[in-house]
Amino acid sequence: MLSAEKNRQLTQVGPGTPMGEVLRRHWHPVAGVDALAREPIHPLRLLGEDFVLFRTLDGGHGLVERRCRHRNADLAYGMVEAGGIRCSYHGWQYATDGRCIEQPYEDVVDPQGRLRARACLQAGLVRVKAGLLWAYIGPQPAPELPDWEPFHWAHGFVQAVFAEVPCNWLQTQENSIDPVHFEWMHANWSRRLAGRTGPYAPRHLKLGFEEFEHGFLYKRVSEDTDESHPLWTIGRVCLWPHGFFLGDHFEWRVPVDDETTLSVTWSFIRVPREREPFVQAEIPTWTSPVRDAASGRWITSHVINQDIVAWVGQGTVTDRTRETLGASDRGIAMLRRRLLDDIEAVAAGRDPKGVMRDPARNQRVTLPSDHRDFFLHGLPLADYLRHPKWGRLLQGFIFHAGQPEAVRQASEAALGVPQREITIIDL
Ligand code: FES
Ligand SMILES: [Fe+2]
Repeated sequence: MLSAEKNRQLTQVGPGTPMGEVLRRHWHPVAGVDALAREPIHPLRLLGEDFVLFRTLDGGHGLVERRCRHRNADLAYGMVEAGGIRCSYHGWQYATDGRCIEQPYEDVVDPQGRLRARACLQAGLVRVKAGLLWAYIGPQPAPELPDWEPFHWAHGFVQAVFAEVPCNWLQTQENSIDPVHFEWMHANWSRRLAGRTGPYAPRHLKLGFEEFEHGFLYKRVSEDTDESHPLWTIGRVCLWPHGFFLGDHFEWRVPVDDETTLSVTWSFIRVPREREPFVQAEIPTWTSPVRDAASGRWITSHVINQDIVAWVGQGTVTDRTRETLGASDRGIAMLRRRLLDDIEAVAAGRDPKGVMRDPARNQRVTLPSDHRDFFLHGLPLADYLRHPKWGRLLQGFIFHAGQPEAVRQASEAALGVPQREITIIDL
């Protein structure tokens, strides 16, 4: 359990809050590059602040506060220009760095632009990487935007999925260092949801948690594995401060505000060796529903939708004063302690954990991964289909419900394997 005071410290993300200041030292994936190409203005709430993310007519990107400095009109209903965004109320125009560069009527009566100089918007930074737009709204100089090695893998079909989840970010990230939930929430619950009563999945027998430069590793031995298995020798990565890396995909839990989290999933599905070379023209991104439209209940059919059921079920901001933590929660306790250390570090003017400053070290950064060889070198189709894990991923998108038909078709064309409709995952 945690005191109410510490729970507040770790969960509040707005400007000036201790955790908000820590999270402002990191980059956040916030939208798809393709989404802005389709619709150039994207209202964005991040860490309790309102912005617009936009793509200019000349293909650049900007991130500025949402309300115009003139009389507060909503720039989400503005218009983009070459190099900036213009308010649709009286036409004031802002550059991607927030400078006001045009005030159509004022410029006639005040050609020196004195009023313009006083009308800057707060601006963040935007970068493009791995088909995603990444935002940074913290102090300068900005740290490196992590260049994870999987972003450079070849011959794979990549897609990214967004889902807005109505609960605090911390409980979603605690799921990234929670090995036992896999046995119950995904394997066993799915069997019950599919109408099967047994047998249950192999039990966890032993857990390990270790800190490393980019986060924590969790390791497991189950009834069907031993200490020679990659799930023990390598494990899974709880990526700092709000990510999860599972070898084939990343998940990030981006704090929108204290009560909302943007779940972002980036997945790579290697094409069978016979389909190489494969070069993806554009990474599609899409938004997954979290509730079933007909019943209003949370969707339970896909892996991350199931996680979402757990996260929102814990309450909007879960009450950690009433928890009963056990041995399975050792990683959770480590994560919380480290975040509290980060709060102290930032208050003392130091960088928190996970911030990279050296561009020379931020190149194709490898993360611990089981089966990295497979992602680098691929498999012939027959072997791929026989593989108990990768064969399943090849035949249908298991992570999120609601994959658009166009994405399903594009993945089928890339992979050359019919894509199954998943009603309930079978793990
Ligand atoms: S409110 Fe934006 S230009 Fe007037
Ligand atoms: Fe999960």
